[in-house]
Amino acid sequence: MENKVRCLFDIDDFSIEEINELISTAEDIISQPQKYQNACAGKRLATLFFEPSTRTRLSFEAAMIDLGGSVIGFSEASSSSTQKGESVTDTIRVVGSFADIIAMRHPKEGAPVAAARKTIIPIINGGDGGHNHPTQTLGDLLTIKKETGRLENLTVGFCGDLTFGRTIHSLVNALGRYKGMNFVFISPAELKIPDYIKEGVLQNYNIPYMETNRIESVITNLDILYMTRVQKERFFNEADYMRLRDYYILDLEKLQFAKKDLIIMHPLPRVNEIAVEVDDDPRAKYFIQVDYGKYMRMALILKLLNIEV
Ligand code: CP
Repeated sequence: MENKVRCLFDIDDFSIEEINELISTAEDIISQPQKYQNACAGKRLATLFFEPSTRTRLSFEAAMIDLGGSVIGFSEASSSSTQKGESVTDTIRVVGSFADIIAMRHPKEGAPVAAARKTIIPIINGGDGGHNHPTQTLGDLLTIKKETGRLENLTVGFCGDLTFGRTIHSLVNALGRYKGMNFVFISPAELKIPDYIKEGVLQNYNIPYMETNRIESVITNLDILYMTRVQKERFFNEADYMRLRDYYILDLEKLQFAKKDLIIMHPLPRVNEIAVEVDDDPRAKYFIQVDYGKYMRMALILKLLNIEV
């Protein structure tokens, strides 16, 4: 048995045309939600989260409920039979008997791809280790489109943990396929963007980029500043984490040198990397970014279940 249905493991699984269609559907859902309220009646989503989550899991569940469907699942591996030694592949195969679509998160890179081999329903990657987070990217793209008015000709600064920040890897991969992008990678030397992203995306799409460890020296030129937390759970060494965790703290003092129409994004959760005083600045978009994520997940569920409204 092999999964022949469409899944989303990596943002590369969708063409830019398909991503733009999802954005159009999400915009339609925002403008007329009642049209979609029964679109998934009788359908069931399973959320299988082997790693902690607040936004991704709950936004998937809210998305399915707002489409008139229902939700089952677990929020931690310890409350599933994984605890007894069951493999992820077996778990996914079994849940395939109870659900029409699965959203899963797992600490191992590539786990959703391996798990999907033994099921016949669509699988969505809700984050696999330090690798990818494609549904975060879908929400990020809608945020950029709605808040800047465009998905082209943007100078985007990515700041923080660029090594383990899976949301960055997926977003760079998606944005790099739009026209006129210019990237600025801001990180300590220990947390630079991985070579496989440089070779596979930046060089492949011929995207101009620079790397720096000083946010102050580049903030003036940015249209988007995408902040990330240092990913504590991916560090092998607590001392390294403690040394790097507060390397960047975005505050109003730093923002005085930024454009008036800059947008500040963050996949959340935030730790210390954005001072709370920034939340009331009109350029802060990281909470509305969560709302956009739900609308894109609604559009994604419709697409993978082949439901046309
Ligand atoms: N952005 C994001 O993935 O948040 P959660 O870890 O809370 O799902």
